[in-house]
Amino acid sequence: MSQILIKSLDEIEKVKKACRIVAKVLAAVGKKVKAGISTEDLDKIADELIRKQGAEPVFIGYRGYRHATCISVNEEIVHGIPGKKILQEGDIVSLDVGAKIGGYCGDTAATFPVGKISRKAARLVRFCKSALQAGIRQARAGNHLGDISAAVKNVADQAGYSVVRELYGHGIGKDLHEEPLIPNFGNPGEGPKLRAGMVLAIEPMLNIGGWKIRTLSDGWTVVTADQSLSSHFEHTILITEKGPEILTLRGNE
Ligand code: MF3
Ligand code: CO
Ligand code: CO
Repeated sequence: MSQILIKSLDEIEKVKKACRIVAKVLAAVGKKVKAGISTEDLDKIADELIRKQGAEPVFIGYRGYRHATCISVNEEIVHGIPGKKILQEGDIVSLDVGAKIGGYCGDTAATFPVGKISRKAARLVRFCKSALQAGIRQARAGNHLGDISAAVKNVADQAGYSVVRELYGHGIGKDLHEEPLIPNFGNPGEGPKLRAGMVLAIEPMLNIGGWKIRTLSDGWTVVTADQSLSSHFEHTILITEKGPEILTLRGNE
């Protein structure tokens, strides 16, 4: 049973507002990603910036989560808890930001380099970003959900990376997570038909090694089972009659 909500024009305006805020915060905090800063300091900057714009950090309180962002370093895939960890030259840092304003949510993530990173890491990050772009290109009215999933997986396959199979993208609106689940693997032409007015958070997670994951004893941080590097990018997009509109675009992308 799939019940993918079609947003009204009024709802779309509200989602757009939340998305502009998270995009701005991700860009600003991304600039602070440097050797020597702790992940809790990055989170604090994000929290303040979200609130300054009149929004709430929507991750706080979500299933008991207590921070404005998820910050996942190197072999951490997603849901890294901000803390005392100090970033070091060569790390890759996936920052995920969510906010709610006027009752609607935005959600976006990107992987940032800390100083100079290895060619291996840079290649992973580049392909994860292009996997997201390939998925977004398929987010058109008349296509099927599987077209998005297959496009993401295809980029990962071509590049020789695995995609995480147990975590998904999602619809988004009043709730941070709405239907449908958006796997990063699947078959073209399968799954529900996409329609104008759907708002989706598409979020590939690519690993250099295998697809298997493990959750740390903190109950949140998801890491690659083989400790290989992982990258995560996420945009909230709107399907329009004319094609996908990326609502969380950052000016500097
Ligand atoms: N932002 C994550 C996602 O992309 C969800 C984070 S939930 C939290 O779906 F509780 F960990 F913050
Ligand atoms: Co997110
Ligand atoms: Co998301």
